[in-house]
Amino acid sequence: MKITQLLVSVLASTLTAAAWLAPGDISSGYCVIHRVPEWEQRKLFFDFTKEFYVTRNVSEAFKLYVADDYIQHNPFEGQGAAASEQYLAPIFEDPAIGVTVLRQGFDNGTGWIHTRIDGYASLPVAIVDIFRFNGSCVQEHWDVIEELPANATNPIALF
Ligand SMILES: *[C@@H]1O[C@H](CO)[C@@H](O)[C@H](O)[C@H]1NC(C)=O
Ligand SMILES: *[C@@H]1O[C@H](CO)[C@@H](O)[C@H](O)[C@H]1NC(C)=O
Ligand SMILES: *[C@@H]1O[C@H](CO)[C@@H](O)[C@H](O)[C@H]1NC(C)=O
Ligand SMILES: *[C@@H]1O[C@H](CO)[C@@H](O)[C@H](O)[C@H]1NC(C)=O
Repeated sequence: MKITQLLVSVLASTLTAAAWLAPGDISSGYCVIHRVPEWEQRKLFFDFTKEFYVTRNVSEAFKLYVADDYIQHNPFEGQGAAASEQYLAPIFEDPAIGVTVLRQGFDNGTGWIHTRIDGYASLPVAIVDIFRFNGSCVQEHWDVIEELPANATNPIALF
């Protein structure tokens, strides 16, 4: 296929996709909410966490999977997908910071993921993130964060 034909075909498919969306959906640039069955939400959750915590492309993870009007309960992040994307990208895209997924699950429209973060604080940090879906998109987030105490008495503390 010649490059001009390819461009025409890409443009045509973009216009076709755009025709299905309301104008507000295009301008947000984030995930567009539509109804999906629970098995598909579960797949979307695992795709989202792979992009976020394994590939560590925060912008791509937020643009593809998080609703524009994301509700945030982290004490230091602002409301909306863009605010969290900007807060998290410098942390999760920094190769000096280690991110290890320990376990995760999904049930009844809500997913959770337990991770270990090395190199952010002086000692390893354990995080549990909880994400609520609305249709095809992540709509709300809570997290619980704990740094390993220097004087921990349990040899298997946190991990
Ligand atoms: C994230 O993915 C997008 C789309 O593939 C790419 O354009 C961008 O450069 C990636 N960003 C990083 C930090 O890897
Ligand atoms: C399923 O999720 C809905 C909406 O978040 C919640 O109201 C309901 O209590 C949940 N059901 C169970 C069994 O957890
Ligand atoms: C789901 O998203 C729609 C469209 O943004 C919104 O009107 C609705 O309140 C949301 N529902 C929940 C439970 O978050
Ligand atoms: C561990 O250190 C913290 C902070 O210094 C202190 O508040 C806490 O009492 C200590 N706990 C134990 C069990 O030593």
